[in-house]
Amino acid sequence: MDVALQGIRKSYGGTAVLHEVSLTLRGGRVHGIVGENGAGKSTLARIMCGAVAADSGQVAVDGEPAAIRSPRDALRRGIALVTQEGAIVPGLSVADNVFLGGGVSLGDRRGRRVRGLRDPAGDRRRFGRLAARTGFSLDPAARAGDLPLVHRQQVEILRALAQGARLIALDEPTALLPAPAAERLLRLARDLAERDGIAIVLISHRLDEVLSACDSVTVLRDGRHVTTAPAAELTPQALLRAMVGRPVETLYPEPAPVPDDAPVVLAVRGLSRGRAVRDVRLEVRAGEIVGLAGLVGSGRSETLRLVFGADRPDAGEVTILGRPATGGSPAHAMGLGAALVPESRGEQGLVLVRSAAENLAMASLPRRRRLGFVRRGAERRAVRAVAEPLGITGPHRPAWTLSGGSQQRSVFGKWLVRSPRLLLVDEPTRGVDVAAKAQIHRLIADLAARGVAVLLASSEVEEVLGLAHRVLVMRDGRIAGEFPRGASAEDVLTRAGLR
Ligand SMILES: Nc1ncnc2c1ncn2[C@@H]1O[C@H](COP(=O)(O)OP(=O)(O)OP(=O)(O)O)[C@@H](O)[C@H]1O
Ligand SMILES: [Mg+2]
Repeated sequence: MDVALQGIRKSYGGTAVLHEVSLTLRGGRVHGIVGENGAGKSTLARIMCGAVAADSGQVAVDGEPAAIRSPRDALRRGIALVTQEGAIVPGLSVADNVFLGGGVSLGDRRGRRVRGLRDPAGDRRRFGRLAARTGFSLDPAARAGDLPLVHRQQVEILRALAQGARLIALDEPTALLPAPAAERLLRLARDLAERDGIAIVLISHRLDEVLSACDSVTVLRDGRHVTTAPAAELTPQALLRAMVGRPVETLYPEPAPVPDDAPVVLAVRGLSRGRAVRDVRLEVRAGEIVGLAGLVGSGRSETLRLVFGADRPDAGEVTILGRPATGGSPAHAMGLGAALVPESRGEQGLVLVRSAAENLAMASLPRRRRLGFVRRGAERRAVRAVAEPLGITGPHRPAWTLSGGSQQRSVFGKWLVRSPRLLLVDEPTRGVDVAAKAQIHRLIADLAARGVAVLLASSEVEEVLGLAHRVLVMRDGRIAGEFPRGASAEDVLTRAGLR
């Protein structure tokens, strides 16, 4: 199947976000779409999949104009969108989401079974076939709302396949996945194209994966189609240049040296919780950036949460600036000067119906005990101090309308307005484009240079090695090794247990 987007235009509130974009997607091919945050990638995907209406232009399926006014129209034409947030019906089972979910109105939003429509034995067989085809191991009876995001994404993919989709658009499908799972997903995408002739659209900020998984790649910049070229003819540098329109600085900022007399801000001894974190010992001094590397599930995020008081340890001791913080609460840790930038922006970080400015102001308010009437002032200051330097575009719109990258920057900014002494950061640049990534790196380096102690967890080994003064590697809940700045990624990954 071929899907042609022709002259697609879209504006929000008078601002054009897509200018006459035309693009043809062919069955049997994996087609990449890249671009900086806010370039219009998700908007284009939502238009082709009926979630958003274009202002003008049309979508043609196999040469025939297709009126796509809703996701159901799109699905009827064989076009499905898989988002990172996971458009599932939480109250329904996995199987119901897969077989009914596409046309939610077929089912019942509250999750009651629709009688008389289903063939349970047939569904089980079909579910088994789909699971085998994709290699996903999901319990069909599980409540979809209880699944972690990664599995919700799998439900969406199964649903697309169950509904016979011939074009599947994946919007940043690997952003939340650990490397091995990301590789599996990309292999599946290739396989669905090659063996089943499905057209796959892959939107991603990971240029290396785009180049290796895709047949051709389209670059969007500021809502314009800059180029489409075979992946084999492209390099990451060429893609970057096309995305940004100028040569890009991708070097990490050199961290400022830590003064010899810098006090220990965070001290952790014998910290343990279940099997996730075992006997962790570490120190971070003022001005120091300590990286936590390791595979997903190695205990990095759990360690940060324990330090922050978000979870209770079974054993061990945490002190922040010499004051006990063991097993306290986030409020207690915040009182001692700690801030945690968590890994999942939508779930833990932002109130999506509020604007970025409001989110930033809210983060600064409790501490200063200010009431409603000074809010506008707090918002203005937050925008000036944080949103502008961070390049958050549209700080006054509801956060859900921001591009993924601006959301991530807002989460980050929310904690910066508190001027922390200890910054705990988990996956700071996930879903963030190269330029924004460099900004966030700069910001972390600047904070450290001003004396903030930083504990930085990331699954991107290059990121921890590039930013941190030293890197601790976690494996199975333990600190498995320590590397100085300048160590090789290969060595760190080996210690983490990847190779
Ligand atoms: N519902 C909306 N209301 C107003 N503006 C919107 C809405 N949805 C998107 N935008 C704006 O349209 C532009 C393109 O957004 P889009 O989400 O398509 O970008 P993107 O390329 O997917 O970015 P990212 O890489 O950050 O996910 C952005 O400036 C965004 O803020
Ligand atoms: Mg997007």
